[in-house]
Amino acid sequence: LFCLSDPRLSPRTNKLQSKILILTICAAGIGGTFQYGYNISIINAPTSYIQRFMNETWLERTGVPLESNVILLLWSFTVSAYPLGGLTGAIAAGPMAIVLGRKTSLLLNNVFVIIAAVLSGFSRMAKSFEMVMLSRFFTGLNAGVSMNIQPMYLAESAPKKLRGAVALTSASFTALGLVLGQVVGLRELLGEENSWPLLLASNVVPALIQLVALPWFPESPRYLLIDRGDKESCISALQKLRGHCDLSAELEEMLAEQAATEGQRAKKPWELFQNPAVRWQLMSIVVLSSAMQLCGNDSMYFYAAYVFQEAGIPQEKIPYVVIGTGSCELITSVTCVRLLMHSTQVSWMPYLSMVCIFAYILSFGIGPAGVTGVLPTEVFDQMSRPAAYMICGSLLWFNLFLVGTAFPFIVKSLAHFCYVPFFVVCICTALYVGFFLPETKGKSFLEISEEFKKRNFKPQTRAFFYKGPEEIKSTVL
Ligand SMILES: *[C@@H]1O[C@H](CO)[C@@H](O)[C@H](O)[C@H]1NC(C)=O
Repeated sequence: LFCLSDPRLSPRTNKLQSKILILTICAAGIGGTFQYGYNISIINAPTSYIQRFMNETWLERTGVPLESNVILLLWSFTVSAYPLGGLTGAIAAGPMAIVLGRKTSLLLNNVFVIIAAVLSGFSRMAKSFEMVMLSRFFTGLNAGVSMNIQPMYLAESAPKKLRGAVALTSASFTALGLVLGQVVGLRELLGEENSWPLLLASNVVPALIQLVALPWFPESPRYLLIDRGDKESCISALQKLRGHCDLSAELEEMLAEQAATEGQRAKKPWELFQNPAVRWQLMSIVVLSSAMQLCGNDSMYFYAAYVFQEAGIPQEKIPYVVIGTGSCELITSVTCVRLLMHSTQVSWMPYLSMVCIFAYILSFGIGPAGVTGVLPTEVFDQMSRPAAYMICGSLLWFNLFLVGTAFPFIVKSLAHFCYVPFFVVCICTALYVGFFLPETKGKSFLEISEEFKKRNFKPQTRAFFYKGPEEIKSTVL
């Protein structure tokens, strides 16, 4: 499947190679976007328990209980510590990806989760709700780093024609994390009043899985060649990922990019803003990564129980309804990946996939999630990529913080129409994507950059050089 170009080899060898790519995706995803989704949803179930814990510890310390609005404030600090950590992580991710490499950064990133799990796991024993807040900050730090580096790592490791599908798996892992977090948060599992420290610390499990699994897979070949200049490791990484396919075309393309970036160093985020040659690329990632959170999908999960409660669903049924939302997202995101992979073979598939993607974006809005993850990899070259992810990630987390904080107020003031602002954001983004974003599927990074070059330097002035009316007409049209 992943190595269609080489009919000489037995299907078994090819299958083995495709397995390695799939396993790489899983190893990166479990400690990456899976954690993001998981940690968004596990905070939902123990809300009232932790609030009670805050009240009780305060009473024990000072002899007076907390006012209910002070508890709510402390709780919103706890919830927003996560995006705040994420923002920090997104900024740290750029330098980490450049200095340590993609894979090492992802591995090292698990240290943050381990710290977070220790903090939250012992918080009740230590009678300190501050530890819960700090733990959420570290959890966010981990998610911020992996949300930026995982799509970079995967998109750089995947073969050209599968890049989009592979990067969309990030969205599937987010959804999987959301659902599992919701399931583990059920009263039958870790949703009991007494087990909330365990529930919050359970995010250490995926971190440990990644620490064991990811070292077996190769570093991003593009990073090895272009950043490190290590052609041998690059080839061996490529061979591990692709098997004995004909690697020359891919290698040649990478070498061309290496030559194009020769002598340059990795860019800083503010240098991207000053460079007119990347204006449209920057604009596109700014729009998409803001929209991804402003469409309200992810912050909905923070408050899922609250929204359903406002909608009048019986209290005891809410956890199961909440799982329904996560499952829908999981199903749509997995379907999207499958359809993207096979859409070239069956003629009606593209339409089905389009309908699916529309349904996906409109109902859950996370359609941008997978694409936003991969877009900076596709539209920026190797030297600008980490900086682009820093910008993209900062916006993403800032907006999650913004919407996460505003969400309860939006629900309160707009009631049943609370999704209208998010819907408007979705429509505007869809229009922007439809009109301004070139198709990137199946193109090499250099081809994509040519496409953008045409937009960044529009040939408006050409009409003055060639004064023929035909020429002017064609330029205008
Ligand atoms: C905080 O605890 C006190 C004493 O147990 C209780 O009376 C009060 O209702 C609690 N406040 C909230 C908001 O739960």
